[in-house]
Amino acid sequence: VSGANDETLTVIEERVPPPSKVNDSIVIGFSLFAALCAVVFAVGLVLRAPLGLYGGALAFGLLALAYAVRRFFTDRFPDVEAIEPREAAAEPERVRENTLVAAVAPIARRPLLQRVLLGASAVFGLGLLAPIASLGPSPRRALSDTGWASGVRLVTTDGEALRPEEIAVGGIASIWPSGRVGEERSAALLVRLSTEPEPPTVLDWVVDERIVAYSKVCTHAGCPVALYRERDNALFCPCHQSTFDAARGSVPTFGPAARPLPQLPLGVDEQGFLVALADFQEPVGPPY
Ligand code: FES
Repeated sequence: VSGANDETLTVIEERVPPPSKVNDSIVIGFSLFAALCAVVFAVGLVLRAPLGLYGGALAFGLLALAYAVRRFFTDRFPDVEAIEPREAAAEPERVRENTLVAAVAPIARRPLLQRVLLGASAVFGLGLLAPIASLGPSPRRALSDTGWASGVRLVTTDGEALRPEEIAVGGIASIWPSGRVGEERSAALLVRLSTEPEPPTVLDWVVDERIVAYSKVCTHAGCPVALYRERDNALFCPCHQSTFDAARGSVPTFGPAARPLPQLPLGVDEQGFLVALADFQEPVGPPY
């Protein structure tokens, strides 16, 4: 029994392990194995290999890396068991001086092991980025673009172009871009309102002072808005009863939808048919 500080700290037993080449080999070996597993995982995922292959590589790689880290750190510290007799009213500074850490010999770092371990961790981290490749191309344009563009005629489900005078007061029609009937994201509703619209309706996009068009895709969860009540110009979504005021920019007045239905810029071409002046100026459908 000996003491690092004879006054207050008594070391009962101190086992300082000698530098172990076996341990170093284990750390290096498991680190390299983990890095290899990360590469197998990334390549397997990108090449769409069987799930068991790259999933197993990920699992074994994680285990190997964890074991290498554990062996690296547990071998660094001497195993010391000590007791510290408590004296009455010991001063804080004195207690701090006499902690066990003060008695432990400085830790010898082995740069090679550190580098191998850090390198393996970096490779493993890069390997975990591989799932990003599986996301495929960005859907941004597919989600925001529709079939509407400047000069595209409005057509019914039967493919017939429409003139303003064909829309009766209180009348409503499902419309599509010419040549793209049935394309869900382009579906729109054409309404001749019973009253003159007011902001936030964009009045420059209104034809004959009362004909407006809005996206048919509900901004709550994407159901088709299909019902219209002429009395108060209300558009309804049957899925969760969201209600939109078609005379005021289709702002939601009831239900879970939080965003208006995007308004389609409307105009009339030289032959007198209704056309879009541009695509919707906001994304259609629910937020994403
Ligand atoms: S999808 Fe229209 S209210 Fe829910």
